[in-house]
Amino acid sequence: MSKRVAIIGAGPSGLAQLRAFQSAKAKGEDIPEVVCYEKQDDWGGLWKYTWRTGLDEHGEAVHGSMYRYLWSNGPKEGLEFADYTFEEHFGRPIASYPPRAVLFDYIEGRVKKAGIRDWIKFNHAVRRVEKTAGGKFRVIVNDAVNDRESDEEFDHVVVASGHFSTPNVPHYPGFETFAGRIMHAHDFRDALEMKDKDVLILGTSYSAEDIGSQCWKYGAKSITVAHRTAPMGYDWPENWQEVPALVKVEGKTAHFKDGTSKDVDAILLCTGYKHHFPFMADALRLRTANRLASADLYKGVAYVKDPDLFYLGMQDQWYTFNMFDAQAWWVRDAIMGKLSIPDEAAMRADVADREAREDALEDDYACIDYQGGYTKELMDETDYPGFDVETANQQFYAWKKHKKKGIMEFRNHGYVSPLTGTQAPAHHTPWKDAMDDSLESYLKT
Ligand SMILES: Cc1cc2nc3c(=O)[nH]c(=O)nc-3n(C[C@H](O)[C@H](O)[C@H](O)COP(=O)(O)OP(=O)(O)OC[C@H]3O[C@@H](n4cnc5c(N)ncnc54)[C@H](O)[C@@H]3O)c2cc1C
Ligand SMILES: NC(=O)c1ccc[n+]([C@@H]2O[C@H](COP(=O)([O-])OP(=O)(O)OC[C@H]3O[C@@H](n4cnc5c(N)ncnc54)[C@H](OP(=O)(O)O)[C@@H]3O)[C@@H](O)[C@H]2O)c1
Repeated sequence: MSKRVAIIGAGPSGLAQLRAFQSAKAKGEDIPEVVCYEKQDDWGGLWKYTWRTGLDEHGEAVHGSMYRYLWSNGPKEGLEFADYTFEEHFGRPIASYPPRAVLFDYIEGRVKKAGIRDWIKFNHAVRRVEKTAGGKFRVIVNDAVNDRESDEEFDHVVVASGHFSTPNVPHYPGFETFAGRIMHAHDFRDALEMKDKDVLILGTSYSAEDIGSQCWKYGAKSITVAHRTAPMGYDWPENWQEVPALVKVEGKTAHFKDGTSKDVDAILLCTGYKHHFPFMADALRLRTANRLASADLYKGVAYVKDPDLFYLGMQDQWYTFNMFDAQAWWVRDAIMGKLSIPDEAAMRADVADREAREDALEDDYACIDYQGGYTKELMDETDYPGFDVETANQQFYAWKKHKKKGIMEFRNHGYVSPLTGTQAPAHHTPWKDAMDDSLESYLKT
């Protein structure tokens, strides 16, 4: 096959795309030439921890948003690769909420086995993707080590650059003169920095919940979470309070909408991220909110204005690694001509239908079902090995209930693998007492 395909990013989504092509090759199929550009010096995307913040060693924006002591926030049984189970990788059942290093090891295990590292150009940041007069994509890339720019032409581009890296940073009156630290979740690295401190958190989603929990676990004096819309409503520990929206800051004093105030040492902005693709030419650039039915993506992946271009993993995420796989297998088959893409009107109707169905969802349980159904829809159209989505949905429901029951205890539970049927064992130490997040410590029996 003479086609050329560029993949941008070697995180879980980009690696899924590489693995999809490699699996077709292993079956004797004639696959396109594939080149993956990754701006970091290793694969794994967000799961590759970096201590750096701001700019990296080459002056590129640091991609990493993960922090020390991060454990999976959902059960691993909800994200298991259908072609590479946890039991295959670790040789035995392991507990359900692995720390970052354990999940990185799992992600890496599959792609090491597939032998696709040579397909990736590390330390290569994509600077620009534009259309040529001949209808191809020109991809301009900077080789950071040699400080050299080059460009190549491709028939297809798959954007897998993630969307939890460019922080959404609001301003509140008084931030300029706040007598303490103001930091976005993207730059948070070590909860020990907040030991003995009074911490104010803005936001009520996963970063707020988990960074607050980390600070609590590692000895913050108090946690105050201000909500713009609604409180999280968990049964929090006694030095944790939820308050209405922040109005302004004076010196060290934070003032809230109900007239109350609190003196704080640090303000952590857990206010989410932006879908940000400055390297895509205007006509190719995805503009979407963080939602389950991303704007302008047919089947959640093909860009309706130019379906030779694909975006992976751009949805808000309940399902992650296995959904990226379903998308990558589908994109591979579209590129290889095994699946056909309809005209623009039909693609737009598909997007509108997905949006309308999402808008009608009533609660988180319905959102889980919706994204499980989407993953199944894509899996059913390809030869991805697949998994029992209903069993996976059930594990997510149980997770939600365990959180409601005990927000500092939910990670002590185990769940059933939708692939092997194995019930995960309980971890050897309750999450709140397990201070060492290393792979060695987690895998100890
Ligand atoms: C703090 C945090 C915790 C999370 N925890 C969980 C969890 O517990 N469980 C879970 O399932 N999911 C979690 N997620 C969700 C996460 O989005 C996915 O797990 C996964 O990392 C997404 O994979 P990705 O490949 O789409 O994006 P990323 O992991 O972001 O990878 C994108 C890759 O693209 C590269 N890249 C970006 N721009 C360029 C460019 N211009 N040129 C070349 N390369 C580029 C980056 O360097 C990176 O390697 C978490 C997210 C965050 C922010
Ligand atoms: N341990 C883990 O595994 C872990 C930890 C952290 C994050 N994550 C992942 O990271 C991803 C991103 O999560 P996230 O929590 O960073 O982002 P998010 O889910 O997009 O949530 C953003 C939050 O910021 C609030 N917000 C936005 N603008 C605001 C403003 N101007 N003032 C006050 N609040 C504002 C929103 O409030 P409204 O509701 O009012 O809009 C919302 O609560 C998720 O996929 C999550 O799973 C995982």
